[in-house]
Amino acid sequence: MKRTIFYLSVFAVIGLILTGCGGKKDPAAQTDVAEANASYGGLTKFEFENGIGPVKEKMNLSAVSAENALKGEKIFEQKCFSCHRLDTKLVGPALGEVTKRRSPEFIVNMIMNPDEMTKKHPVAKQLLAEYLVAMPFQDITLDDAKLLLEYLRSAAK
Ligand code: HEC
Repeated sequence: MKRTIFYLSVFAVIGLILTGCGGKKDPAAQTDVAEANASYGGLTKFEFENGIGPVKEKMNLSAVSAENALKGEKIFEQKCFSCHRLDTKLVGPALGEVTKRRSPEFIVNMIMNPDEMTKKHPVAKQLLAEYLVAMPFQDITLDDAKLLLEYLRSAAK
């Protein structure tokens, strides 16, 4: 009995050493990366979670500024109101709660880069399939997109 346990542990240790070395080989590591990308639909993890566009890293957000939210609201009325309301669907989705379902970076990327988003990002593609109108590229600057985000953050209850 003792002997069996001894042999079993020896095999276990050898097994661990073998698989441990195998895991460090480069081809295996590359396969891991390829598999990870495949599960994000060919996007990086960041793009998958935060959209594709000019924002490529997490933004540092402070508390909502009422002044900036008001500036954002003015831009919203000029450039978004034809298609979006806060509390109901129109040409596009209702945006009152959008900051709860998407990351801030996703929202800015969608505002600035809707063409690529609806072609490559699974969530935006899905929205296009549902709404059947492509949100237009309006050449919104990063500063204005951030003001719009402030407005949308202030609108979320
Ligand atoms: C011509 C209509 C139109 C205009 C103008 C427009 N959008 Fe959109 N928007 C859409 C549609 C339609 C969608 C859904 C995706 C698609 O079909 O392209 C959408 C999607 C979005 C989304 C993603 C919503 C979600 O649930 O993830 C955000 C955020 C957004 N729009 C913000 C804005 C902002 C901010 C503006 C103004 C700068 C704006 N949109 C201007 C039509 C429009």
